[in-house]
Amino acid sequence: MTREPLDNPVETVIKSSRIVNLSNHTTLISKDGAEHIIADSGAPIRDKTGSIIGAVLVFRDETEKKQVEEELFKTRKLESIGLLAGGIAHDFNNLLTAIMGNLDMAMVKSETAKSSSNLQEAKNAAMRARDLARQLLTFSKGGAPIRKKMDIANLLEDTTNFILAGASVSPRFFIAPDLYTLSADEGQLSQVIQNIVLNANQAMPEGGLIDIAAENTELNGHPTLPDGPYVRIFIRDYGVGIPGKYISKIFDPYFTTKEQGNGLGLSTAYSIVMRHEGYIDVSSKPGAGTTFTILLPAVVSATDDALDTETKDETTNISASILPLKILIMDDEDAILEILGEMLSFLGHRVMETLDGNQAIEQFRKAMDQGEPFDLVILDLTVPGGLSGKETIVELLKLKPDVKAIVSSGYANDPVMAQYREHGFHGVVNKPFQMQELSETIRQVMSLEE
Ligand SMILES: Nc1ncnc2c1ncn2[C@@H]1O[C@H](COP(=O)(O)OP(=O)(O)O)[C@@H](O)[C@H]1O
Ligand SMILES: [Mg+2]
Repeated sequence: MTREPLDNPVETVIKSSRIVNLSNHTTLISKDGAEHIIADSGAPIRDKTGSIIGAVLVFRDETEKKQVEEELFKTRKLESIGLLAGGIAHDFNNLLTAIMGNLDMAMVKSETAKSSSNLQEAKNAAMRARDLARQLLTFSKGGAPIRKKMDIANLLEDTTNFILAGASVSPRFFIAPDLYTLSADEGQLSQVIQNIVLNANQAMPEGGLIDIAAENTELNGHPTLPDGPYVRIFIRDYGVGIPGKYISKIFDPYFTTKEQGNGLGLSTAYSIVMRHEGYIDVSSKPGAGTTFTILLPAVVSATDDALDTETKDETTNISASILPLKILIMDDEDAILEILGEMLSFLGHRVMETLDGNQAIEQFRKAMDQGEPFDLVILDLTVPGGLSGKETIVELLKLKPDVKAIVSSGYANDPVMAQYREHGFHGVVNKPFQMQELSETIRQVMSLEE
């Protein structure tokens, strides 16, 4: 947009004596100063003799259409970057699984190694790399939130207090009682709040206040969201603010104005909110502060229990010890197969390693024929060019309907990982995993009663 004044449209029509489309993306400034993006066209009015006596102008307000287009463009851009990032993060996770696993093993094998600060540092760095890879995966395509019914009020307070612990900034909460229930991924929403509150804190190096507000609202005619009940969240700081020239860029991956920034906080927040069919927006005044507004759809009917399957786990009694198990593992990466095998052996189990689904099925059948079936299988979700974990479990279930199975993946956000139960699995391990997480998951899966 040039902000140049246009030629007088009436003159143009009269001069050309034809119907004309005058211009697109024109800004009409109304008397009250509000700006509307319009498309306009004009046509001459003739009297009986055919001579032109005037002109009609038609203005169509395109402000909203333009907003929707921009939103779509933003989403597309993030999608393509997400695809790339997801691929990289996946390979990264495989490597990190081997790195972290071997560090873990080294530390449990020798007392000297256990107390070595070098190894501990290496492990800490590997964990940070894992967090980064997970952030990347969060906005990679296909990331499905693991939804549960939840109440956002506590999450807002807990997450904010956690992030601001020890900071010179203090939060003020304005949270309406009786907020609607959401069906959302608590971990992901916590990440959204963390990223925004962290930015707010960083925007006020001298300290100050952050206001966190939440209220119920009914949407009706929102430009991108369907009508219905929503929870609206505001996070406002009184910090440096965002200059106008940056405001359209802040949700882009890797956009940062900070020396130590990575520019992933808001793009991650954006994709998480989009995946929850919500909306996130910002308004800011340089020097005065910034407000982020988030809309999240509420659960409509109280009887909608389909999403509540997850809570079952928490009440399951986890038995204290598990017997040595006979475990079949499948992963196409040699290094992962090896370290996974080593970890499981260390935990006292007997392990059979296979490199793809067909091998796994063959070994599984063989063991059954010999009357010594496997107690547990751990399958890699994606096997390029081979039978994947998702396909393998279907066959194993035919052989043994009560087979206990764990799915492992470097794609923490793959829909199968979110809905593992529907696919016949009993648990998930996200690569890279630590020995502790692995043994915990095995314990849980083995103590599940079918
Ligand atoms: N509350 C805020 N106040 C001022 N600027 C902000 C705020 N939140 C975000 N920004 C701007 O948006 C950019 C991107 O934020 P983000 O994606 O979290 O990445 P990072 O914090 O790593 O820079 C920041 O570098 C900053 O310029
Ligand atoms: Mg940030």
